[in-house]
Amino acid sequence: RVRIGVLASGRGSNLQAIIDAIEAGTLQAHIVVVISNKRDAQALERARRHGLQDVFVDPKPFAGQPDSREAYDRALLDVLHKHEVELVLLAGYMKIVTPVLTQAYENRMMNIHPSLLPAFPGLDVQKKALEWGVKVAGCTVHFVTPGVDEGPIIVQAAVPVLEQDTPETLATRILAEEHRIYPRAVQLYAEGRLRVEGRRVHVEGAPAAAVTSL
Ligand code: GAR
Repeated sequence: RVRIGVLASGRGSNLQAIIDAIEAGTLQAHIVVVISNKRDAQALERARRHGLQDVFVDPKPFAGQPDSREAYDRALLDVLHKHEVELVLLAGYMKIVTPVLTQAYENRMMNIHPSLLPAFPGLDVQKKALEWGVKVAGCTVHFVTPGVDEGPIIVQAAVPVLEQDTPETLATRILAEEHRIYPRAVQLYAEGRLRVEGRRVHVEGAPAAAVTSL
């Protein structure tokens, strides 16, 4: 069973989707630790409710150091190593991770992002999608590399953009797909079916299953 560590900063609905899939038996994995940079993150609350180990790592003591982000990530790495984490999942983790983490967990750290990458990296992406007038939006699970939202794409799902959408209604429609594809991407990893070759992730034994159409 794959030992998962989750990094989350907020609401934790993607963490919840992973927990639910594990409890339902559709995801063969084990969450060994949930870590947050926010003391009162709802994600930590969810972890506790399900009897999972929760850890708050305070960024404050690192602020002001010249390499504060790297030092913080070394502290995270200690926690991940202590719990013998094999796969790291970023689930609404709102801090940029440094090479300290991306190198230690190369091709073993995933992120979920609420756009069809490479369109709309960064923040406020549902608002940006509406401003661009795109007709199709969606979400992406990708491996994490030093470039923000740039890593090899594992699974994507698409949703329509509707005339009356606000950033909130679009985000809700996208989120439902996030909750569906993130556990699936992790299960593909657990089954050993992901092979990274340059920018591309090949999904063994399931050529079409990685893509969802409207
Ligand atoms: C999700 O929509 C996730 O894709 C997004 O934040 C939300 C977190 O929700 N992540 C990013 O924007 C990463 N840059 P959650 O805390 O309920 O899972």
